[in-house]
Amino acid sequence: TRSMRLAVIPGDGIGPEVVAQGLRVLTAVLPSDVKLETREYDLGARRWHATGETLPDAELASLKEHDAILLGAVGDPSVPSGVLERGLLLKLRFAFDHYVNLRPSRLFPGTAGPLAGTPRIDFVVVREGTEGPYTGNGGSLRTGTPAEVATEVSVNTAYGVERVVRDAYARAQARPRKRLTLVHKDNVLVHAGRLWKDTFDRVGREFPAVTTDYLHVDAATIFMVTRPERFDVIVTDNLFGDILTDLAAAVTGGIGLAASGNINPDGSFPSMFEPVHGSAPDIAGTGTADPTATVLSVALLLRHLGYEAEAVRVETAVAEDLAARDGAAPRTTEETGAALVARVTA
Ligand code: NAD
Ligand code: IPM
Ligand code: MN
Repeated sequence: TRSMRLAVIPGDGIGPEVVAQGLRVLTAVLPSDVKLETREYDLGARRWHATGETLPDAELASLKEHDAILLGAVGDPSVPSGVLERGLLLKLRFAFDHYVNLRPSRLFPGTAGPLAGTPRIDFVVVREGTEGPYTGNGGSLRTGTPAEVATEVSVNTAYGVERVVRDAYARAQARPRKRLTLVHKDNVLVHAGRLWKDTFDRVGREFPAVTTDYLHVDAATIFMVTRPERFDVIVTDNLFGDILTDLAAAVTGGIGLAASGNINPDGSFPSMFEPVHGSAPDIAGTGTADPTATVLSVALLLRHLGYEAEAVRVETAVAEDLAARDGAAPRTTEETGAALVARVTA
């Protein structure tokens, strides 16, 4: 028998609600000869309030001993902003070298939203996951005074940019349209922009089958709304990728559908799968969060671990469910989970 060792971090707000449904679907779709071993980690706001810890070394070491991690969301209004986001989520992405933050967007038939009915919105954002302004380089002088100076330095290394750009080219080459768009802001961020652009052009010579173009990030937001079908693969830095993928979610049925994988392509560390959305404190506890983004993240997890047929079954279940849901009354988190379980086991 095969086994899947899965670490689960439900986290805060709607995190535990959507993760429960993701695990139901995972359990339902896994072949019977696969032994699923899950270990749940008590990390997030509750833990921080109780012990002051965000991610102790012992837990980090234990998380590492898994095939993959499933995370709900972290962040809570009762915890100062950034404590859990930096101390838990970003710490995991950095420690496990998740340099490819993979965020696919597809407009499924039947989904609502401003662009419903647009033909073929099907692109993937390859967001750099370990550098940029996320590294915590910066500081504040004369804090809290009228003379305060605050900086956040964006770190871009030749090594870090090249490996994510290369990964994006490989993904573009494997797709039917073979298009790759670099998104940056090289008219203002000239130093980082030049490194990204030069790397993009140089690595591109190894991928002659891939058609490339470049967009400034501001223009990219226009096209994502007016002509989203033009995108196939997008590669961009950590912060631009964060912002673009919330927009991408909004134009493809909403944030409740957007999945992501924090991938360590080298396989040295477990990859981590999570919805793009956060802990949604405004709806936490109401039982109305859409678990579909988490379920689609489970599909990415399955694909990453080599369960391609099962990944496709989950994605097909979601597509069928969204088509069937068209115009129907809103459902609870649990009802959507049950509907998806029914479809993957049908
Ligand atoms: P958010 O994504 O949590 O919420 C934005 C809006 O989308 C809210 O109105 C929310 O109700 C809605 N929404 C989100 N997920 C939904 C779902 N599954 N179904 C239905 N509606 C959904 O973003 P925010 O409000 O900016 O952040 C809230 C907290 O989450 C903050 O502490 C933030 O730092 C954190 N956060 C965590 C992650 C993560 O863990 N990966 C990601 C983003 C934000
Ligand atoms: C996301 C989130 C995180 C990010 C935050 C919570 C650190 O917005 O996963 O998109 O900015 O990467
Ligand atoms: Mn985000």
